[in-house]
Amino acid sequence: MWVAETKEKLKEYLLNRKANGTLALVPTMGALHQGHASLLQMALSQNDHVVVSIFVNPTQFNNKEDLLKYPKKWDEDLALIGGISPDIIVFAPSVADIYANEVEPRHYDFNGLDKVMEGAFRDDHFNGVGTIVETLFTVVAPDRAYFGEKDFQQLRIVQKLVEIRNIPVEIIGCPIVREANGLAMSSRNERLSPPTRQRAGFIHRTLLAAKTIFGTKDALETKEWIKGAFSDQEGFDLEYVEIADVETLTPVLRKKKHSKYRAFIAVYAEGVRLIDNLALN
Ligand code: PAF
Repeated sequence: MWVAETKEKLKEYLLNRKANGTLALVPTMGALHQGHASLLQMALSQNDHVVVSIFVNPTQFNNKEDLLKYPKKWDEDLALIGGISPDIIVFAPSVADIYANEVEPRHYDFNGLDKVMEGAFRDDHFNGVGTIVETLFTVVAPDRAYFGEKDFQQLRIVQKLVEIRNIPVEIIGCPIVREANGLAMSSRNERLSPPTRQRAGFIHRTLLAAKTIFGTKDALETKEWIKGAFSDQEGFDLEYVEIADVETLTPVLRKKKHSKYRAFIAVYAEGVRLIDNLALN
């Protein structure tokens, strides 16, 4: 497996390959799990070359402690990648290589997509995501880039980024991969104690039940039902629940026949922030 630790080395290595078939990028922050594996497999099945980036991006963390506690698993990550394909190219730059002396996000106008849900609770988070993703797109110049629907708002923001910056890359959203109990796969799950991790399957079960309720009730009633379900669950603190239009991410006031909606949720358990979402129609 080939590992590049600087932008320059990667660019040099890619020069020859890009002339020869399509190139995919799978951006990650490491601590890889089966959700990432599914992105890599999808990328491999659709492209001639695949780059996976591993970079814990400081400018998207509004909480210092979350950044410090973010799991790092270099050896396991390389083993997982090599097990999928030894041809995958790994890009693992340092913070200095990416940001030089200025570890600050750029500021974007995402047309309000960044003002709701995750954006409302995490200052500058999406400016940080936009900054690193735009930098990776510039360095790698991929034909396609792969993002999980678990971070559905991030996926919509990356689609907007590409539009406003005119970046010639196709953005592919990939379905959420879940643990056996329904908990959405996340690098943060391993910070949960085993009993709480098991009980956390409740989050997905609640969203599934909400989907049924949303079939006959309006968004407000459905959200109230979800809040009620969480108030009965000790140790799971709901930060927000929203039902939003998938295009604009604005909260649904009145259902429209041809619009598509998703329920979005953020929950704290044992100090770990878990997010999930589900298509409702
Ligand atoms: O989803 C993530 O892991 C990160 O937000 C990303 C897209 C790799 C940017 O740092």
